[in-house]
Amino acid sequence: MAALLELRNMTVALGRSETAKVILDDVSFSLAPKEIVGVVGASASGKTVLSRAAVNWLEPPLTRRSGTVLFEGRDIYAMKEADMRALRQRVSYVGSNPMGALDPTLPVGAQIVEKMRAVMPDVSRRQADDRVIALLDAVRIPSARSRFHDYPSQFSGGMMQRALIVDALVTNPAVLVADNVTQPLDVTVAAQVIRLIKELTDQFDTAVLFISSS
Ligand SMILES: Nc1ncnc2c1ncn2[C@@H]1O[C@H](COP(=O)(O)OP(=O)(O)OP(=O)(O)O)[C@@H](O)[C@H]1O
Ligand SMILES: [Mg+2]
Repeated sequence: MAALLELRNMTVALGRSETAKVILDDVSFSLAPKEIVGVVGASASGKTVLSRAAVNWLEPPLTRRSGTVLFEGRDIYAMKEADMRALRQRVSYVGSNPMGALDPTLPVGAQIVEKMRAVMPDVSRRQADDRVIALLDAVRIPSARSRFHDYPSQFSGGMMQRALIVDALVTNPAVLVADNVTQPLDVTVAAQVIRLIKELTDQFDTAVLFISSS
């Protein structure tokens, strides 16, 4: 099958100088539609840098020295701002720091609804609320309808990680990049979260780049 997301000969260094430390050295992989690709490596081996490079989200001092990423055959490093914004709806990223990922001053549900409606302006407020509540329920957030109104600080770590999976999948992306999502969780919750990602991505035909340190 043609690749959906393809990383080609990616080399990333810590800075621009020729002597800068190389973090990724000529890394390539491809992800087909609906495929799940796993990346396993020790801590500090470059997994987060790889997953950020895959979504064009490297920040200084991390510098792409060579290589590129194609999404549906288009070079994401050559995209204009508007195309990049559209890409963010098709390629979602979930990291391992759930507490820092949402705005602490706004309720969890409202933030996810806002993201969904930014992408899908034809969806009414009411429909968006209902869909987000249904998804919060699907990731087994207890009393989803009332938790929808909670602020991020009122969620436990495991609940927040699950809410972020909802946040990542609410726009129905073609690709989910899941970077160490189970790292902050105890093994039982981690196993549930993995099962949920599998169920939801099966349901929505999402391809997954699943990154884990063990
Ligand atoms: N912004 C940065 N500034 C300096 N060094 C960085 C930066 N980001 C990553 N590094 C370095 O790049 C290397 C790879 O880091 P990365 O975060 O990708 O590791 P990882 O495989 O995701 O580890 P973990 O399993 O602990 O999440 C590490 O040596 C790290 O110190
Ligand atoms: Mg990491």
